[in-house]
Amino acid sequence: VVSPKIAPSMLSSDFANLAAEAKRMVDLGADWLHMDIMKLSFVVIDLNDTEPFLVSYLLTSLLFHLQDGHFVPNLTIGAPVIESLRKHTSAYLDCHLMVTNPMDYVEQMGKAGASGFTFHVEVAKENWQELVSKIKSAGMRPGVALKPGTPVEEVYPLVEGETPVEMVLVMTVEPGFGGQKFMPNMMDKVRALRQKYPTLDIEVDGGLGPSTIEAAAAAGANCIVAGSSVFGAPESGKATLVISLLRTS
Ligand code: DX5
Ligand code: ZN
Repeated sequence: VVSPKIAPSMLSSDFANLAAEAKRMVDLGADWLHMDIMKLSFVVIDLNDTEPFLVSYLLTSLLFHLQDGHFVPNLTIGAPVIESLRKHTSAYLDCHLMVTNPMDYVEQMGKAGASGFTFHVEVAKENWQELVSKIKSAGMRPGVALKPGTPVEEVYPLVEGETPVEMVLVMTVEPGFGGQKFMPNMMDKVRALRQKYPTLDIEVDGGLGPSTIEAAAAAGANCIVAGSSVFGAPESGKATLVISLLRTS
C-alpha cells in the first residue's frame, strides 16, 4: 500500500512568510504544496444559489473595485507568487485553479514553475482536450476538479480521453474558502472513481483533518489537501502530528 500524498493548502499559511511556511511544511513531511488560485467571479458564481446576501455583498464590492480602477483578477495567489516561491523550494506545487478561463493561465503558470495544473470541469466543457494538451506541453501535470454540485460522470471523458488528465480533485466543500466543514456524501464520487480507475490519482480538498481523513482514504482518495487542520495546529509539533495522522490513516 502506497501512503497517501499529503498536500498542505498554503491558503491557510502566513502569506507574508510564504517561503518559510513552505519549508516548514516540507520539513514536517508534506509531499506536495497545494496552491489555491482564485478569481472573485468564480466564487460569486459558486455562491449564487445559496447565499443571496453574500452574493450581493460580493457583487457590490466587485463593482466598487471596478469603478475604483483597482480590480485585479486574482484574489489570492497568482503566477507571480508561484514564480517567487519556486525560487525557494523544489517541492511539487499542486496548483488548483478556481478561475473561469484556465486557458489564460497555462503559459504563465508553466513558466512560473507550477508542477500540477488542476482546472475545474464546470468551466472547461468544450475545450478540455486543447487545455490538457497545453498543460502537458507547458511541462505540468493536468488535473480536473469538480465542485460538490457537479456529478462525477462529468469528469469520466477527461480521464478516458486521448490525452487524459492524471488526477481528479473531488471538492469536499464549496470552493472559495478554507476552514469549512467536510461533506461526507462526496465520498460516493471518490468510490465511483476508484472503482473505475484503480491507478488514478484522486485528491480530496476541503475540511480534511484527523477526524475526516479515514472516510476519504477508505473511499479511495490518495492525495489529501489539508489547510486549516495543519496550519491551525498551535505549534509545529502539533502540525507534525496532524500530518502523520493523515499519513497513517
Ligand atoms: C477551497 C480550497 C481549499 C482550502 C482547503 O476553495 O480549494 O484548498 O484551502 O482548506 P481547509 O483544509 O481548511 O478546508
Ligand atoms: Zn484547493
